[in-house]
Amino acid sequence: MKSTPRSQQVSIRPARAGDVAALAEIDRRSFRHEGEIFNASRIRRLLANPRAMAFVAEGGKAPLGWAVGLTRTTAGGLHGRLYGVAVDPAARGLGLGRRLTEKVLSALARRGCRRLALEVRIDNEVAIALYQSLGFEPAESIRDYYARGVHALRMRRES
Ligand SMILES: CC(C)(COP(=O)(O)OP(=O)(O)OC[C@H]1O[C@@H](n2cnc3c(N)ncnc32)[C@H](O)[C@@H]1OP(=O)(O)O)[C@@H](O)C(=O)NCCC(=O)NCCS
Repeated sequence: MKSTPRSQQVSIRPARAGDVAALAEIDRRSFRHEGEIFNASRIRRLLANPRAMAFVAEGGKAPLGWAVGLTRTTAGGLHGRLYGVAVDPAARGLGLGRRLTEKVLSALARRGCRRLALEVRIDNEVAIALYQSLGFEPAESIRDYYARGVHALRMRRES
């Protein structure tokens, strides 16, 4: 029987190149729509991107979840984007999604991001509840963001 790790036994660490295949597998198991999934080559590019910060939840041999943020320089200053978070279905409900998201948000804040944004599938109630509990507010809906008929909600937070 597969054992479920307790959240306290799980550490959050920066993602590294050797994690790519495992993170792509977590995304494949986590999302219904192709447009939401980061595949291995996209993850590889993200991990090499100096504007990205990615973290992994590790509780045994394989990563249990991951999250990534991006910075963006705008005329109004440095903005941050929570770009993705996914927890393996077998490890959900243990607080890992919250810990990973908080880790990315504090890394973005440390880099100097004052305004934060994210996009989430408009019917993803679990993720929206998580983001609202972290201070994000619905800003606008974006039609066909992930694919035709798969709309997104953009949420924002002043950090
Ligand atoms: C969204 C996701 C990352 C949450 O990860 P998780 O580790 O299960 O979440 P946590 O245990 O940290 O719970 C965080 C919050 O999420 C919400 N949540 C978690 N499980 C929930 C459930 N079954 N029903 C309703 N809300 C739930 C709650 O607001 C919870 O806060 P609480 O602990 O104060 O109750 C996870 O469900 C997932 O990977 N989903 C598929 C991928 C995805 O949708 N990613 C986000 C889109 S960008």
